[in-house]
Amino acid sequence: MCGIVGYVGPRQAERIVVDGLRRLEYRGYDSAGIALVHEGTIASDKRAGKLSNLDKALADNPPPESSTGIGHTRWATHGPPNDQNAHPHLGAEGRVALVHNGIIENFAVLRAELEAEGHELVSETDTEAAAHLLEAEVVAGSTLTEAMRQVVRRLEGAFTLVAVDAQDPDRVVAARRNSPLVAGIGDGENFVASDVAAFIEHTREALELGQDQVVTITRDDISVTDFDGAEQPATPFHVDWDLSAAEKGGYDWFMRKEIFEQPGCVADALLGRHSARGRLQLDEMRLSDQDLRDVDKVIVVACGTAFYATMVAKYAIEHWTRIPCEVELAHEFRYRDPILTRDTLVVAVSQSGETADTLMAIRHAKAQGSKVLAICNTNGATIPRESDAVIYTHAGPEIGVASTKGFMTQLVASYLLALYLAQVRGTKFGDEISQIVGELEQMPQKVGRVLEQADAVNALAADLAEARSVLFLGRHTGFPIALEGALKLKELAYMHAEGFAAGELKHGPIALIEDGLPVICVVPPRGRDQLHDKMLSGIQEIRARGARTIVLAEEDDEVVRPYADTFISLPKVPTLLQPLVAVVPLQLFACELATLKGHDVDQPRNLAKSVTVE
Ligand code: F6R
Repeated sequence: MCGIVGYVGPRQAERIVVDGLRRLEYRGYDSAGIALVHEGTIASDKRAGKLSNLDKALADNPPPESSTGIGHTRWATHGPPNDQNAHPHLGAEGRVALVHNGIIENFAVLRAELEAEGHELVSETDTEAAAHLLEAEVVAGSTLTEAMRQVVRRLEGAFTLVAVDAQDPDRVVAARRNSPLVAGIGDGENFVASDVAAFIEHTREALELGQDQVVTITRDDISVTDFDGAEQPATPFHVDWDLSAAEKGGYDWFMRKEIFEQPGCVADALLGRHSARGRLQLDEMRLSDQDLRDVDKVIVVACGTAFYATMVAKYAIEHWTRIPCEVELAHEFRYRDPILTRDTLVVAVSQSGETADTLMAIRHAKAQGSKVLAICNTNGATIPRESDAVIYTHAGPEIGVASTKGFMTQLVASYLLALYLAQVRGTKFGDEISQIVGELEQMPQKVGRVLEQADAVNALAADLAEARSVLFLGRHTGFPIALEGALKLKELAYMHAEGFAAGELKHGPIALIEDGLPVICVVPPRGRDQLHDKMLSGIQEIRARGARTIVLAEEDDEVVRPYADTFISLPKVPTLLQPLVAVVPLQLFACELATLKGHDVDQPRNLAKSVTVE
C-alpha cells in the first residue's frame, strides 16, 4: 500500500530518493517524507498530501547534503493522512529513522510497553512503535542490522521496514515479511525499494529478496540474512524494461499511455510462446505434463479487474479443455472452505503479484496440497515466488492505478494457459491450437484498429460528461467486459455505473431504464448466432424504453446498427477472444470522462495500486 526507497552512494540522496518516490507514487499518495543522514544527525521532512507538497517544502527549505537516505509515499492504514502520521518516524532520540509498508498487528501491545517505559509516541501509526524499538536496540549497542533483526522478530503482521541510523552514515537496512522489497545493484551505490521502478533510472540489475529477510546495503555491498542472522542467497535478475516505460512519454496520463501501449503488450505477452514445430511452450511453467493431466478442477482467484479476467479465463478453459473451472474473488475464497485436493489447480491472477487477498488465497490452496499457478506482471513478486508455476504477462510497469494493459495481458496469459492445458491433455488438436494462436497473433493489429477510434470515444465521453449513471450490458465473454467497463467508470469518473449480464435485464434491472439513460452494449460476434440475436433483442427492449444505446459490435454488423444511437465498431474476432478488443473503448471512455471531470486519472481518490493488506 505504500512506496519505499532507500539509497546509499556518492550522489545527493535527496534527489535519488524523491525521484524514486515519484515513480512509486502509484502505490500510495496521501503523504510522503524523507530522512537523510547528515553529520551524525537525521534531517527529515514529511508532508500530508501528494508528493508535490513534499517537493515544495524541500524546495523552500533545502535539506543538507547527504549520501544516505530513505523515503516513503504513504497510503494510510493506521491514523489519518496528516503530517504527523506521515513517514519517516523517528526513535525517541531522533537517531534512527524508519519507513514502513504494511501493518504491524501487535503494535498496540508494543506501544503500551514503550509508553510504560516512558516513551512518548507522537503519531497514531503502528510504525512509530517499531522506530522506537529499533532505536532503543541501537542505543543499547547493536548495529542497525542486528537491531533490525531483533525488532522484526517481535513484530506480527505484514511489513517492509527500511531504516537509517544517524551515527552509521553509509548504511541502509531493510526487512520484509509478506510485503514487497527488492534491492538495486549499482556501481558504487545501492538501492532498496518496493518496486524496481524506483531505481530503474540508475540500474537495471536487481536482487530478489525472499520472505523474512533482512538486507543491508552500503555503497559497495548488499548482504542478506534471515531474521536470525543466517546468511541467505538472493537471486539476481535483470529488469527487461527501462526508464522510458516508467515515464508518461507525452501523454497526459500514465493510464492513457498504457491503454495505447496495449498492441505492443499483447505482442510481448505472446512472444516466444511456441516452438519451431508449432507447439505451445510456456517457459515459466514448472508443472510437469503429468501434473497438468492429473488436474480435475481449476479454480481461478483474483480481485477487482483481475477478477474479470478470471471470468473470461473460465470460458476459455472450460471450452478448450473441458476441465471444470470455478472463478472466485480471492477474499471470499478461503473463508468458504473450498474443496481443494492435490488435483486441483488454483490459478492466481494478479498484475502486481502483491495483492494480499490473492496471496492469502494461494497460501490456503497450497496448505491443502493443491497446485498453484500465478499469472502475474511483476517479476519476482510474492505471488509468483510462492506459486508452483508462473506465466508472466510481460506488460511492462503499470503505473496508472486503474489496470488496463495489466488486464489485457492477463487475458492473453489466460488464453495461453487454456490452450496449453488443451495441448497437454489432448482436448484440442495441434492444428486447432495453432489456429487460435494465429488469431491471437493478429490481436496487436486489431487492438490498434480499435484505438484508432479514440477521437470518437472521446467525443462520446464529452457528450455524456453530465450523465448521472451509465449501464453496461454484455453476454458470454461480453459480461465480464461490461463489469470491467462499469468498474473503470466508477473508480475513475466517480459515477454510478453498473454492469449486467444482458439476459438478467428482464429479471429486474430493466426497471432502471429511463429516457436518455446511456447503456453501453457489448454485442457478441455473429459466430455464435444465438448469443448475438438474444443480445439484439435486449437492445431493442431497452431502446423501446428510452435508453440511449451505445453499441460495440463487429464492424459490418448491419443488423444491430439501426438500434445503435452510437456505434463503435470492433474488428472481427472469435467470440472467446472478443474481450481483447471490446474492453479498449471502455477504457478510453472512462479515462476521457474522468479527465473531463477534472479528476486525477492516474491516482483516483481512495485507491492505491497495490493492495497489500487484507
Ligand atoms: C482496477 C484495478 C484493481 C486491481 C485489483 C487487483 O482498475 O486495477 O481492481 O485489478 O486491485 O490487483 P492485482 O492485479 O495487482 O492483484
